[in-house]
Parts: sequence; structure tokens; C-alpha cells
Amino acid sequence: MKNLYELFVRPLLFSLDAETAHHFTIRLLGSASHFDPALRVLKSFQPSSKSKTLFGLNFPNPIGLAAGLDKNGVALPAWAALGFGFIEIGTVTAKAQPGNPKPRIFRLPEQQALINRLGFNNDGADVIAHRLAALRESGRWPPVPVGINIGKSRATALEQATDDYLYSFRRLRDFADYITLNISSPNTPGLRQLQEPEKLSELLHAIGNEAGTAPKPLVVKISPDVSGAELKAILALCEENGVSGIIATNTTLDHSSIPIQLDQAGGLSGAPLRDKSTALVREIAARSAIPVIASGAIFDAESAREKFQAGAQLIQLYTGLIYRGPQLLREIMDGL
Ligand SMILES: Cc1cc2nc3c(=O)[nH]c(=O)nc-3n(C[C@H](O)[C@H](O)[C@H](O)COP(=O)(O)O)c2cc1C
Repeated sequence: MKNLYELFVRPLLFSLDAETAHHFTIRLLGSASHFDPALRVLKSFQPSSKSKTLFGLNFPNPIGLAAGLDKNGVALPAWAALGFGFIEIGTVTAKAQPGNPKPRIFRLPEQQALINRLGFNNDGADVIAHRLAALRESGRWPPVPVGINIGKSRATALEQATDDYLYSFRRLRDFADYITLNISSPNTPGLRQLQEPEKLSELLHAIGNEAGTAPKPLVVKISPDVSGAELKAILALCEENGVSGIIATNTTLDHSSIPIQLDQAGGLSGAPLRDKSTALVREIAARSAIPVIASGAIFDAESAREKFQAGAQLIQLYTGLIYRGPQLLREIMDGL
């Protein structure tokens, strides 16, 4: 049976171009974030709580907002009001950037999927740091862990990637409960090369050296397209460098399940990613003690359970939220 979002809200949003619908929703949630009566309405969606402690943080429930939905961190109080157990903003880059030419988000309803080639459109680390400082001062900071996902600016050469990440890390770490290093988005040329041992080692060392007296948990977000050998090397480096968690996975470049006439360049998310991301979660959990946050095709309680059974400690939603709406959180918590 369809829920109220699927019956009434999704048809309206899906009548708009995907990016217009996205901006409309984010603006609405951003505005709601300033008004207690609006936040009270959003709280009617909240799922039951089932708290969990991981990397020294208390998560009221294990369902998080995946990176990319609130790239600029404009609606943190609204996500918490909807009942997310943690919120990951970003990807934030050192420099503000517009991203790729539009159109750059495509819906594939038959496949329960999205393809995007946004290319890290975001306000940049400085503006976002100011926004987060203002939120903190306003007393509206959300009562759940906030992760900040950082990536490389497009204008920065791959050889300078470490400095670029360091800039965002230094600017944003005080606001983050954990920092995610995104080295796996397919839409910034060369970014995935940072998963190669030499480059990843340099990045992890540099960030590790910055830790200071109050180190923040560091999480690495990986691609579903890594080979077994690549995964082995990534895990070894993460262990060596005291990485706290791994997000598996980002979007895939494997479009083999998509009919050619619907295909677009970009990262594929949603249902076609399900088996691949679950397999990777299982493999990481089997090979390493580093906790896994699962991301990929969580659309209902059953697909969420699959991720936990594969060994995930926490899960994150993106495409499932677009197709199933905020009632998905309660559906998952009730069904676990
Ligand atoms: C439109 C869109 C934008 C995204 N932007 C980002 C991003 O900026 N950074 C990131 O780490 N992941 C990004 N992702 C990936 C998601 O966070 C998630 O890892 C991936 O979509 C798989 O989960 P899903 O099948 O539930 O969508 C994006 C995904 C989509 C669909």
C-alpha cells in the first residue's frame, strides 16, 4: 500500500524537474528549520528511538541522512525533527563551485533509481562554516550527531588534493561529530584515484597529523566499484591510520542494469545498487573490525535489515527517501 507521501507529495514533486524539486524541498526544510511550529509538524514523522553508541557518539537511532541531500547544511534542525538519528552534510569542497551543467539529476522510476552528475555543487567550506556557526549561536543545533563530508574542489589538481581536503577539514572540524573523506564520487574527474594506496596513504597521514587534542572520528566513503584487491589495500590503510568507520557505498558507474535509452552519464543510486553495496558491506565486515555505515538502496525495513545482517552498524538514506518519503524512517524502525 502506498503511504501518504507516495500518494500525494511524490506526484507533485515528480511533476517538476528533479533538481527543481530538490531545491524546493530543501528551501522548505531550510525555512522550517527556523520555526518551532513547523518543526513540531515534522516531528510527527519521528520513528521510535533505539539508541546506539559508536565511535564514542550516541545515535538515537541508526538511520542517517546520506551526504548529498543537504550539501550546504541549511536544514539541520528539520532533518533531526523528521527523526534522523544522524545527519551527514556535504560534500563540501574548499572552494565554492557551481557543479556540472544542468540537467544533472535524472529519475528512473521503473528502476527505483537516480542518476546524478552534480559534481559537488556547494557553497564552499568558508560559507558553510559561517552558516554552521550561526546555527550553533541560534541555539538550534540538532540533538543528533552531525557528520561533515568533505571532497576535493574541481579546480584543484589531484596532486594538491591533500591540501584541499586539509583546508576544509580545518575550517569545519569544530562543527562536526565526525568527518567523512569522500574519495569515491564519480563526478569529479580523478577523485576516485584517491582510493589508490599511495594517494590515500598521503591523505590519511595528513589528516591524522591534524588531529590535535580532541580528534574527531574520521570516516572514509568508498565506491561500490572497487575490486577485491583495492578493497584490501583500502582496509589495510584505514586500519593503519586509525580510521573510525567506512561508508559503503557511494553511487556506482556500473549501469549494466539500465536500458540504454534511459541511460545518462553519472553515478547510479537506488535499487540497482542494492546487491553490490550489500556485498561490499559484508566483505568489509568479514575482513575488518572497522565499523561500517551502509548506504545504497535502502527502501524499506527488509532492505535495511539486509544491511544490518551483512554487518552494518548504521545505515544512511538517499534515493529511498526520494521515492518513499519521510515515513520510511518509521517503517524501517517498526520493521527491524
Ligand atoms: C543526487 C545525489 C547527490 C549525491 N551527492 C553526494 C555527495 O555530495 N557526496 C557523497 O558522498 N555522496 C553523494 N551521493 C551519494 C549518496 O550519499 C549515497 O551514498 C548513494 O546515493 C547510495 O545510496 P542510495 O541508493 O540510498 O541513494 C549523492 C547521491 C545522489 C542520488
